[in-house]
Amino acid sequence: MNATNPTVSTVLPPGPPADYLVRLERIEKSFGSNRVIPSLDLAIHRGEFLTLLGPSGCGKTTLLRMIAGFEAPTAGRVLLDGEDITDRPPYRRNVNTVFQNYALFPHLSVFDNVAFGLKQKGLGKTEIAGLVRQGLAMVRMETFETRKPKELSGGQQQRIALARAIVNRPKVLLLDEPLAALDLKLRKQMQQELKNLHQQLGITFVFVTHDQEEALTMSDRIAVMNRGVIEQLDDPQTVYDHPRTRFVADFIGENNTLSGDFDGRHLRKGSVPVPVAEAAVVPPGKAFLFIRPEHVLIHRQRPADGFALPARLTGRTFLGHQWKIHCELTETGDKVDVSVRPDAVGALEDCSEVFLNWPVEKATLAEE
Ligand SMILES: Nc1ncnc2c1ncn2[C@@H]1O[C@H](COP(=O)(O)OP(=O)(O)OP(=O)(O)O)[C@@H](O)[C@H]1O
Ligand SMILES: [Mg+2]
Repeated sequence: MNATNPTVSTVLPPGPPADYLVRLERIEKSFGSNRVIPSLDLAIHRGEFLTLLGPSGCGKTTLLRMIAGFEAPTAGRVLLDGEDITDRPPYRRNVNTVFQNYALFPHLSVFDNVAFGLKQKGLGKTEIAGLVRQGLAMVRMETFETRKPKELSGGQQQRIALARAIVNRPKVLLLDEPLAALDLKLRKQMQQELKNLHQQLGITFVFVTHDQEEALTMSDRIAVMNRGVIEQLDDPQTVYDHPRTRFVADFIGENNTLSGDFDGRHLRKGSVPVPVAEAAVVPPGKAFLFIRPEHVLIHRQRPADGFALPARLTGRTFLGHQWKIHCELTETGDKVDVSVRPDAVGALEDCSEVFLNWPVEKATLAEE
């Protein structure tokens, strides 16, 4: 990780290339004068479930298509298993893609859809039949062999699209928002099935979503993208607990952001020096501190120990399992939300002035 430039988080790791199944080296992509991916390095571990997460238009599909070979990079190299495959067509890459809209052949039966790639490889009839049945069993669709895609629900079609991809035993399975068209319940169920499939198959999955919750629950690592740049590449817990940039802090869950002057040990908010745990990685100067609502503590009286930021209560929102208490720092006017359990909210009923603090290690500091 590069502490002085938080937007460059993906310097390629050292070590033999064989440790990484897919390596993107200084990949760039422009469409005409539109530079969609400025310069990107990414190394994907063998067997991992890596998610590309980012808002619409940030370049997730473009990146996936460059791994698949449907799109040529403007500059840079794509390596698969140590081999440069930048100029190889999609069908010679041992990579399969599952798209959002299933892309099944409408005139072919389920069986023939799944068999399609295997036939093209020239396998024998018996072998194909065996593999197709195995693939359909993995997605629990073995009784649907003779149906046409239009006779299936969205979730069933997506299972067939998955079976069609996995029967080819690709080294990498690319999944571009494969669950986006499904309703919430089916989506949750398919998330679990995808995870199970990943474990059973041992294939490397590169999964695209713009749904942060989906990314957090499914992935070994998440690459958070913003405008063609990977701003953070970490395991879900680290991305959630320690966002490296303001963009990541805002994009993943809810976060309070406080800006101020950092002196190497404290972030100054009005007259209060707020202690910071990770002092070493951010140089003194303007900085952001991120703290999640569930980690902020609210006190009626100034706590005896540690720092305390005086605040006013400005409102509250009921969220079922908790209340969100809205506060404003008295000195600086910064807005801070605090999550409070329903049974604890009564204690704040008649007060308007409070003090806020948090366990120092729960806050994350980033350069402004
Ligand atoms: N073939 C193309 N020609 C020109 N511009 C393109 C092309 N494909 C993508 N773009 C542009 O590249 C940018 C990134 O697009 P991309 O499809 O990779 O985004 P995305 O992150 O997958 O978004 P979404 O979440 O909406 O699917 C967008 O600004 C898009 O308009
Ligand atoms: Mg896309």
